[in-house]
Amino acid sequence: MIRAYRPTDLDRLYEICVRTGASGQDAYDLVTDKNLFGHVFAAQYGLLEPEHAFVIEHDDGVAGGYVLGALDTNAFEAKCTAEYWPVLQGQYVAGSGQGLDAMLIGMIHNPSRMPSSITEDYPSHLHLDLLPPFQGGGNGRKLMESCMEALKADGSPGLHLGVSAQNKRALGFYAHLGFQELHANPMVHVLGIRL
Ligand SMILES: CC(C)(COP(=O)(O)OP(=O)(O)OC[C@H]1O[C@@H](n2cnc3c(N)ncnc32)[C@H](O)[C@@H]1OP(=O)(O)O)[C@@H](O)C(=O)NCCC(=O)NCCS
Repeated sequence: MIRAYRPTDLDRLYEICVRTGASGQDAYDLVTDKNLFGHVFAAQYGLLEPEHAFVIEHDDGVAGGYVLGALDTNAFEAKCTAEYWPVLQGQYVAGSGQGLDAMLIGMIHNPSRMPSSITEDYPSHLHLDLLPPFQGGGNGRKLMESCMEALKADGSPGLHLGVSAQNKRALGFYAHLGFQELHANPMVHVLGIRL
């Protein structure tokens, strides 16, 4: 069942994020601090824009997948700069950590900003991740459609998202759903779709 995000789902956002963080594969053993993935890629959506967040659950009520949307990427980034990143910047020393931890701590101190060349026509963005038992059978599509409908109903004309260049499964999935490539470098593809 797909339902709206609830504040009590926050821990599940962290868990799902790290378990899918390595280009769609489990990243749990790749980081020392298991919360870093959720800090960088997931928690801010539940905390700051819960109205565009949805989860999928089985009968036990425990979320096994999420879609986390931001209606206006520029406004969302500004809100994170004002309210979200400073808290984490106070918790993690700049330049600390090793390996992937260090990279993620670097992202806390230098959060990425999407250029206006993308956000002008595709102002919204989202993150979509499902744990393996929830993948397939149309669950990703259903979650995506829930978020796209909500963003469109709130006036968005277009949506973009970033995908690791190594995540061939997700790239195939998004192409199948009609996303077009807006930008690509060896690490990341930025895809977009009109709403
Ligand atoms: C990528 C992901 C979101 C896709 O969700 P999913 O539940 O596995 O996919 P669905 O079952 O909803 O597939 C929907 C449609 O896409 C098609 N599809 C799925 N993967 C595809 C692929 N690699 N290539 C082409 N088509 C694909 C399905 O056949 C289905 O087609 P239909 O609806 O026309 O019958 C999910 O597998 C996932 O969360 N993976 C791990 C985390 C991840 O990689 N997240 C993306 C980060 S950017």
